[in-house]
Amino acid sequence: MNNTLKKSIQEAASLLQKSRFTTAFTGAGISVESGIPPFRGEEGLWSKYDPRYLEISFFLSRPEESWQVIKQIFYDFFGKAAPNRAHLVLAEMERRGMLHRIITQNIDNLHQEAGNTRVYEFHGNSMKLVCLACSREFPYGKINLDHLPPRCPDCQGLLKPDFIFFGEAIPQEPLAAAYDAADKSDVFLIIGSTGEVMPANQIPPLAKQNGAKIIEINPEESNYTRRITDIFLQGKAGEVMSMLAETLFSTPLDDN
Ligand code: APR
Repeated sequence: MNNTLKKSIQEAASLLQKSRFTTAFTGAGISVESGIPPFRGEEGLWSKYDPRYLEISFFLSRPEESWQVIKQIFYDFFGKAAPNRAHLVLAEMERRGMLHRIITQNIDNLHQEAGNTRVYEFHGNSMKLVCLACSREFPYGKINLDHLPPRCPDCQGLLKPDFIFFGEAIPQEPLAAAYDAADKSDVFLIIGSTGEVMPANQIPPLAKQNGAKIIEINPEESNYTRRITDIFLQGKAGEVMSMLAETLFSTPLDDN
């Protein structure tokens, strides 16, 4: 580990130990080491698939074509992904009272599988399918995706993954939780996000405006780095979070 990163990790750990309310704000980058590709960047999903298939208007007008892409991107991939070290460190931080909320843009359920309980999913979750006609919900594993688009076993209505498509509103609960976190966090830990997508990308700047210290983990600079980031831990989430955990969990908590 280079000295700059080592010093920054110690600074970050000290901030996190003193923080009364810490929020982790995560993007696709935290799940890359779990085998789930990010959306942007040279290996990004949007360099292979046209994002218009994930627009709600396209889905409703041409559900079979949209579902063919959805299945390839999310359901053929996701089933095999497991939480990586970064997810596991966040779960340990919650257990030790060092992490109070996760606002995630991810729909892969890996924070919950790692053991975090206070997770708010800004873009929903891919584990459930919802019937657009009768609103019944089904675990995705219970629905046969060999025939697309999948139909509701009860009423034959169109089934949609329970995540947010482009053009859909953010669900009220995670939206309120995100703004509340931006209001009261002492530390905002941004892990693996470009900061490209509205309105999620408004949350970290709001936290900064309200006095939060911003710690960011990313192998590359993002839209946040030069604008709001106070401590930039440049590197992969799994590696950096493991190094952070060594300092965070071994150093006795300050007396004050
Ligand atoms: N560790 C940490 N960060 C990483 C890693 C890694 N191992 N690998 C890549 N990254 C970073 C990239 O540098 C990039 O900044 O993760 C980020 C991934 O960016 P995006 O793919 O744009 O992901 P995200 O910011 O979460 O996208 C937001 O866009 O398409 C929509 O709904 C989708 O939730 C998604 C939203």
